[in-house]
Amino acid sequence: MPDEVDNKAKEILRANDKGGFTVPTGGLYPYQWNWDSMFVALGFATFDRSRACQEIETLFEAQWSDGFVPHIVFRREDPDYFPGPSVWQAGETLKTSGITQPPVAATVVNKLWSETEDESIRERLAALFPKLLAWHRWFHSCRVPEDVGAAVVIHPWESGRDNSPEWDSPATAIDVSGIEPYTRRDLQHADPHMRPTKQDYDRYIALVEYGRGTGWDQKKIATEGPFRVADVGMTMILLRATRDLLELGRRLEHDDVLPEIEGYLRQLETGVDYLWDNDRKTFCSRDTVNGRHSGMVTSASFLYAYAGAGNKEQREHMMKHWERISASAEYTVPSQDPGDENFDHMRYWKGPVWIVVNYMVSRGFAEQGMQEAADRIRTDSGRLIEQHGFNEAFSPKTGAGTGGSDFSWTAAMWLAWCGDGA
Ligand code: DGY
Repeated sequence: MPDEVDNKAKEILRANDKGGFTVPTGGLYPYQWNWDSMFVALGFATFDRSRACQEIETLFEAQWSDGFVPHIVFRREDPDYFPGPSVWQAGETLKTSGITQPPVAATVVNKLWSETEDESIRERLAALFPKLLAWHRWFHSCRVPEDVGAAVVIHPWESGRDNSPEWDSPATAIDVSGIEPYTRRDLQHADPHMRPTKQDYDRYIALVEYGRGTGWDQKKIATEGPFRVADVGMTMILLRATRDLLELGRRLEHDDVLPEIEGYLRQLETGVDYLWDNDRKTFCSRDTVNGRHSGMVTSASFLYAYAGAGNKEQREHMMKHWERISASAEYTVPSQDPGDENFDHMRYWKGPVWIVVNYMVSRGFAEQGMQEAADRIRTDSGRLIEQHGFNEAFSPKTGAGTGGSDFSWTAAMWLAWCGDGA
């Protein structure tokens, strides 16, 4: 049985490989997505390291000259997806979207580099270092305001956690009255009850039209745009990636840039405190426009351990949240606290379990010595996949699959982390 599941995981990666880059799943997401591809690289690395490098290289082919790396790379027009390249009107060497996504790339490159002694693979990974550094520089010039220190997202899609209830209150400021008529394509591929609502989508499109209207002027969008939320997920992932970039920089002897990276690290470490909600005693996202915390405990809150963030007291509070939430969920980690009024076990980021977030939370818990919690998450993830397949996400109550099926990053995580052979 485990061999069969391993084979199926490899089959999914091969089927979703469109020639050097992998789509998250056919139909629903027919292009290359930024953070999906980085997790996919970990999956490929279990049986083909060269192909793993290629997945990262193809993403960085779309990097803009200012260091920005887009959340989607469009290599052709696909009528299955909206909004496509003609709506975004962005990109330089390739057509792209105009927003970014959580920067897991430095963490993945550092991991792959340290796990091989093959010089040709190491050389290809080392060649990515300047590109990674340029992307991190871009974050600090366009997404990490000095007085905040945390990473701000300018679109819910930028967070990767599209319809998290954390965005509901800040998103009320988005004016949708002037948006152009549009037809959603996602509902042809997935059950509407598992997807964002029409109100969410109107806001997504209004933000795309706003960004396009500025000519994708990232600084303007980040300082004047209608949606500017310091995101707990983005910040913890960027903080972790910065630690890994620093380690990689040391390994590759890039001594000239190490002080700069250390500066980014210090800034993000301050930003973590900006995200601490002292009333709810949790790390959560915070609207930079009005300073309000979401007050919500999401799966992204638990990324504090992966980031190596939080003082003793904060960590103790987070462990209490963990004990409550893990006791109330059949499968961990629910993307939203099941005790929260917004919890919906089948709707995308309002409750379902995402295996890639599980991987990061579990890895962080293990690194911080919370082995039991780390093991619980890994076991739950393996069970979900074995019993219910390679779904986009899963109900934390029943384990049922939600969203798309034959999902690349779920297959990759099986191979690299939660499968029997991993
Ligand atoms: C979508 O289209 O649902 C994507 O998540 C955007 O990144």
